[in-house]
Amino acid sequence: IPLAGVIGFPIGHSASPRLHKYWLNRYGIAGDYVPLQVSEGSLETVIRALPKMGFVGANVTIPHKTSVLQIADHLSDRAILVGAANTLIFRADGKIHADNTDGYGFMANLKQGAPNWSAASGPALVLGAGGAARAIIVALADAGVPQILLANRTRPKAEALRAEFGTRIKVVDWVQAQDAVAEAHLIVNTTSLGMTGQPDLKLSLDGLSADTVVTDIVYKPLRTPLLEQAAARGCVTVDGLGMLLHQGVPGFERWFGTRPEVDDALRAAVL
Ligand code: ATR
Repeated sequence: IPLAGVIGFPIGHSASPRLHKYWLNRYGIAGDYVPLQVSEGSLETVIRALPKMGFVGANVTIPHKTSVLQIADHLSDRAILVGAANTLIFRADGKIHADNTDGYGFMANLKQGAPNWSAASGPALVLGAGGAARAIIVALADAGVPQILLANRTRPKAEALRAEFGTRIKVVDWVQAQDAVAEAHLIVNTTSLGMTGQPDLKLSLDGLSADTVVTDIVYKPLRTPLLEQAAARGCVTVDGLGMLLHQGVPGFERWFGTRPEVDDALRAAVL
């Protein structure tokens, strides 16, 4: 039977096995999906061995999303641009193809949760400049968002993304991010702020238009303080769980041949 899995260190916290096993079960596919705890030093050996053990592919998570680019034989344009991969496909000819579906997952979740949002309608305010922000910025630019207002606690990291991804990005100082709130048609938190056990994101939403869509990549809790505040102002909010679920779609489809659906039953099963 075809096998897939998720490679990371540590890996016990990963929701991907619940996600993919739910889909295998729902579609009656004889296959399995397992967590694989792999250290940096063994990464290449393990990845090269997996196809010989019946694996058709794998997801890659922290801390291996960048180093896996050195191991794969083919990289998608998206993986090159983002500088990270989260999905591996083990091809019949023995070659390993690496792709990044995080941006796809972000956009698919946004479209599902905020069907009336349109990329062309105005600027997006992105908070954070880490790995998740890179994938999201690339996806937003690709979707045609005219301007990305980027705020990060460590400003030089935002400046570096501007240098890399171009003038569509305008760096906003972290302590002045709230001045950009009124301009934004979309607000995205890509930091860990608001997650259970982390400090809250201290962003005043004064001036926020009720037409602005607010989304968070944090999904523990599902309703972050940012989303609660935005909802109280009448905004459409999109939680972070859907991004995780949607990023798994392209991999599952390529490995197992069925394009899986993201719906409420899946959300309940994964949470
Ligand atoms: P990920 O891959 O999830 O994006 P990351 O690359 O470690 O993780 O990025 C974490 C992001 O959260 C960064 O933008 C980080 O800001 P810095 O670049 O200044 O470190 C942001 N972040 C984490 N903790 C934060 C805090 N307490 N206050 C503000 N930003 C924080």
